[in-house]
Amino acid sequence: MRKLLSLLLALCLIIGLTACSGGSSEEAAETDNTAETAAEEQTDSSSVGETLVVYFSATGNTKGVAEKIASITGADIYEIKAAQEYTEADLDWNDDDSRSTHEQNDPSARPEIGSDPVSLEGYKTIYIGYPIWWGEEPRIMDTFVESYEFDGITMIPFCTSGGSGIGKSGQNLAENAGSGNWLEGGRLESGISEDDLKAWIEGLE
Ligand SMILES: Cc1cc2nc3c(=O)[nH]c(=O)nc-3n(C[C@H](O)[C@H](O)[C@H](O)COP(=O)(O)O)c2cc1C
Repeated sequence: MRKLLSLLLALCLIIGLTACSGGSSEEAAETDNTAETAAEEQTDSSSVGETLVVYFSATGNTKGVAEKIASITGADIYEIKAAQEYTEADLDWNDDDSRSTHEQNDPSARPEIGSDPVSLEGYKTIYIGYPIWWGEEPRIMDTFVESYEFDGITMIPFCTSGGSGIGKSGQNLAENAGSGNWLEGGRLESGISEDDLKAWIEGLE
């Protein structure tokens, strides 16, 4: 009887151990899979979110181009909105007394930004777009560049306009920013085709 009991016990032990070791190898495999997935996600996330398109647009032209750049490059997008929105009267360049005329006549004007701040962490390239106002960047763009640090980031200015080139606006922004690696950038037609935009992006240096 004692022999039978010890035989049964030994049998239980063997079965128990086998079950246990089977479980642990499954668990190990599961852990491996989880580690692999995490590593894959890490790789994915490291290539995502490196490019940001920042833009200000009073009447929608620059917004359209900004959205196309974001779609081509897979970039995130951030809109600079004025705390006090520009009305049609504010934008009247024929009026010496309009808000935009006053602001553009005063290089130290810094209209307040109303949109929530954006974190620039992880971004390596920023396209920064705006309309040309009186041959320059709207002063709110200076508010923006003076509010952030662009160390280690390639900055690409682009503008839309009624015909004027980008002029010195990119240089003004670079000077006021005081950080970032600023490329020359350029003026883009508001109705630019995707192919032309791709060619412009590929030709940037
Ligand atoms: C106050 C003001 C000043 C402007 N000055 C110029 C200018 O100097 N040269 C030019 O070609 N277009 C000028 N424009 C036209 C805008 O640059 C053009 O319409 C631009 O595409 C508008 O972009 P948005 O729709 O993104 O605001 C001016 C527009 C405004 C409202």
